[in-house]
Amino acid sequence: MPGIVIVGVQWGDEGKGKATDLLGERTDWVVKFNGGNNAGHTVVIGDEKYALHLLPSGILSPGVTPVIGNGVVVDLEVLFNELEALNARGLDTSRLKISANAHIITQYHRTLDKVTERFLGKRMIGTTGRGIGPAYADKINRVGIRVQDLFDENILRQKVEGALDQKNHLLVKVFNRRAITVDEIVEDLLAYAERVRPMVSDTSLLLNDALDAGDVVVFEGGQATMLDVDHGTYPFVTSSSATAGGAATGSGVGPNRLDRIVGIVKAYTTRVGSGPFPTELFDESGDWLRSRGFEFGTTTGRPRRVGWYDAPITRYATRINGI
Ligand code: IMP
Ligand code: MG
Repeated sequence: MPGIVIVGVQWGDEGKGKATDLLGERTDWVVKFNGGNNAGHTVVIGDEKYALHLLPSGILSPGVTPVIGNGVVVDLEVLFNELEALNARGLDTSRLKISANAHIITQYHRTLDKVTERFLGKRMIGTTGRGIGPAYADKINRVGIRVQDLFDENILRQKVEGALDQKNHLLVKVFNRRAITVDEIVEDLLAYAERVRPMVSDTSLLLNDALDAGDVVVFEGGQATMLDVDHGTYPFVTSSSATAGGAATGSGVGPNRLDRIVGIVKAYTTRVGSGPFPTELFDESGDWLRSRGFEFGTTTGRPRRVGWYDAPITRYATRINGI
């Protein structure tokens, strides 16, 4: 069973990271294939507590090679902050590989995420404000910046110009914010180029070679089935493919190499942000579950909405993912 996919069945925070860590000893590679630093995952090793957002959970397991796949959106500042925090605690992070095709979250994505949410008013999605949606929107609109663009200043400048062209009209005329200059963004991004360079690879090739060699590769889904942009509770979803199919497109591995799909489900249900939640509790049982389960967001600290176990969404997720 060399290709194993782990996905969330509900609205996230089911404990996928823990499941990945439990598999750790038998795992050679852990691949993050969607999302970015909207995720949050707390790991306790001994009496040290680690909160990871962007890095795949495999980063903490010795002997595992963690991979940030092409389907991920990368905030470089967050990437280096997390790496430095782990290094300061004596952990070796030098095995990390990042796809050259992964897209980059910039300052204008974070700004747009926040202003559009505010503009939506009652219709707000309750995003994590990390620029995830705007970065994926640029990817689909073909004006995204990819990790490989960091290595050619002229190309980078042209692409940032293209990306900012319409956005500055929007920021200034609609949202009443200041315009963002090409120079500030290019300077920001170039500052990371040489540090990120040694980590960048053709991760699809690496993973396919690893599977050929019989290595165990765990594909760790970010968010969960009900937050998937196609199969979740649209429009109250994240902007990526959080279901098993995303493991193939988000990492460049054929679907026939995914041998086993594991769904993680909690005995009750939680959700962060707006949107439907059929079994939600508003009484003392809900409060009790929230406090007993420490149901507060790892990324934003928001109290999670809490409810009973929901059998129909579990059945649905089983079908969508092929669990
Ligand atoms: P975004 O991913 O920041 O655009 O947020 C979209 C929706 O997904 C919001 O309801 C967030 O609360 C939710 N969300 C995003 N990432 C996570 C996660 O890792 N766990 C739980 N909910 C998440
Ligand atoms: Mg989480």
